Amino acid sequence: MDIWRIRGGRRLEGECAAQGSKNASLPILAACLLCPGTVELSRVPCLRDVDAALAILRHLGCRAEQAGDRIYIDASGITSCEIPHELMVQMRSSVIFMGALLARCGQARLSLPGGCQLGKRPIDLHLAALRKLGAVIEEDGGEIRCAPSVLRGAEILLPFPSVGATENAMLAACAARGETLIRGAAREPEIQALQGALRAMGADVRGAGTDTLRISGFRGRGCVRLRIPPDRIAAATLACACAGTGGKICIRDCDPGQFSTVLYFLNQAGCDIITKHDRVTLSSEGALRAAGQIATAPYPGFPTDAQPVLMAALLRAEGESVFTENIFENRYRQVPELRRLGADILLKGREARVRGVRRLHGAAVNATDLRGGASMILAGLCAEGETLVRDSGHVARGYEDLDGCLRSLGAELTIQREGENHGLYIQKPQALG
Ligand code: UD1
Repeated sequence: MDIWRIRGGRRLEGECAAQGSKNASLPILAACLLCPGTVELSRVPCLRDVDAALAILRHLGCRAEQAGDRIYIDASGITSCEIPHELMVQMRSSVIFMGALLARCGQARLSLPGGCQLGKRPIDLHLAALRKLGAVIEEDGGEIRCAPSVLRGAEILLPFPSVGATENAMLAACAARGETLIRGAAREPEIQALQGALRAMGADVRGAGTDTLRISGFRGRGCVRLRIPPDRIAAATLACACAGTGGKICIRDCDPGQFSTVLYFLNQAGCDIITKHDRVTLSSEGALRAAGQIATAPYPGFPTDAQPVLMAALLRAEGESVFTENIFENRYRQVPELRRLGADILLKGREARVRGVRRLHGAAVNATDLRGGASMILAGLCAEGETLVRDSGHVARGYEDLDGCLRSLGAELTIQREGENHGLYIQKPQALG
């Protein structure tokens, strides 16, 4: 258990770099299974979800080495196409290994993935897309068996632009005979990142960024070097942090166009924002106004992952900001915790009405999930007094050194591991005599 101890009320000032993208790294790590040579990835963020992907690759018989922000994967000696339950449940993105294993081995055996509890997260679209390509898949309880199958190109129509289903279909289609069309595909930047990686590895994939992808074959190339793009949600989180606390920060090495919807609402709320091609400078007086109606949607709409952190930034904004969550049914888990800090939020179905309060006060709260945890940390930075955020490891799944980054911008916070004797929960012994 990590315990974030935050003393709120500090303005954020300074410069920091955005981390490499979690949601781009994970499917690219799965795609390494297709590459006959070594893949060198740079700017890979140091995250628990990345460790989980490496554990899966090693279990399958790949060589995976890490040196700083670089990772080297050699999948030539793969020995298994089965992923045990305990590795699958560590994160949601483990499900992407299904398409990659089908492409590499023509078969796979795994179980349902883990990840944040955001409501129902079925994988029916993933399975339907893979079946369309000829995969013979049986589900038995929580187990998924993809029998040895010959994959054939097909036309896949996704009724919803699921990011994960698009990635699984892209990976499997690389090994299919003939051409595959994926219509209704997700348009997230992470799809473009995966397309870039697959092309570098020798796949003929086109269309990323539009709703139609065309995949026609794979002629594996030897060694491949790739750089992971910046993390748009981590960058948005820093922007929201500064918007809420007040101050002025520059976020370097990011792609502002990829989180322009978040910047738009921060601007509506009164922040001054200057974007250049790889950086954002944001200044905030701290006294924001409500940002209007914010509805989450598939890219290029407002990202569901940024909803909890923008909410934290707007807790003290004058007026009413209204969120509508359209992607996940249970994505307001941060709300009861934010209320403990004094937030005024009315929840009704998909809608959350945030009425700005004058002050937030420190309290002990729980990180409910990855982005919910970030939301609590941001709210703690805006609150008067001390906030303790108890986190069973969610934040470290997706944020690289968030505490170091916030401290370098002037935030006053520390992380303690529960059980270590910091006098937090363990009473100090009385002096003898
Ligand atoms: C989603 C986000 C993605 C984000 C990621 C991590 C969207 C569209 N996707 O991707 O931007 O980075 O979470 O938090 O915002 N669904 C099905 N059946 C399926 C797959 C999905 O019904 O087989 C539904 C889900 O229940 C959910 C929605 O589709 O309501 C989004 O799912 P999907 O895009 O697949 O989620 P992720 O890939 O996790």
